[in-house]
Amino acid sequence: MPRLILATSNPGKLKEFQAYLTGNAWELALKPTELEIEETGTTFLENACLKAAQVAKTLGEWAIADDSGLSVDALGGAPGLYSARYGRSDAERIARLLQALEGEENRTAQFVCAIAVARPDGSIALQAEGICPGTITYEATGMGGFGYDPIFYVPEYGMTYAEMPPDLKHRISHRGKAFAALLPQLAEIDF
Ligand code: IMP
Repeated sequence: MPRLILATSNPGKLKEFQAYLTGNAWELALKPTELEIEETGTTFLENACLKAAQVAKTLGEWAIADDSGLSVDALGGAPGLYSARYGRSDAERIARLLQALEGEENRTAQFVCAIAVARPDGSIALQAEGICPGTITYEATGMGGFGYDPIFYVPEYGMTYAEMPPDLKHRISHRGKAFAALLPQLAEIDF
């Protein structure tokens, strides 16, 4: 079974990727923690590509990486690439975002996820992007998920990410859509 190195040292992310890649021919493995990659790209896709490429090239193995975040229209796309660094905890990030939108009626936003797969020489073999449109609520609602889930409302389903059964979020989220685009391509790879 060919190995696919996941360009993160976060075991939570490994579990999530494993769930999306179930039944695939690849064995997923975490990158070594000492191998750190700076996210210097200007788009989610650029960051996913540079992480996958650097890990693949350094280890001489196939690698996969993702980058994701929340873009709020009234904030000019913020927190965007800085979603993870917008506060020190999920509670702080949510509070900051709700405060930034105080008095703002335009609540439209989108979650974006980009995924890239790199060959052992560091060249990009595949890339995919998934977008989930929604709105930012006025207060946190729902107990599930993580991150900004309690304030991200998806009109199509009438609930926030945090109110969704996990299998529904798995399927319709930005990450679910990115994997839906990636998986058929991954199955075609000649390794
Ligand atoms: P990264 O892709 O691991 O860099 O994640 C970027 C940040 O975006 C995370 O730390 C979360 O704050 C946020 N984020 C990404 N995906 C989700 C999601 O599905 N729900 C809630 N927050 C998310």
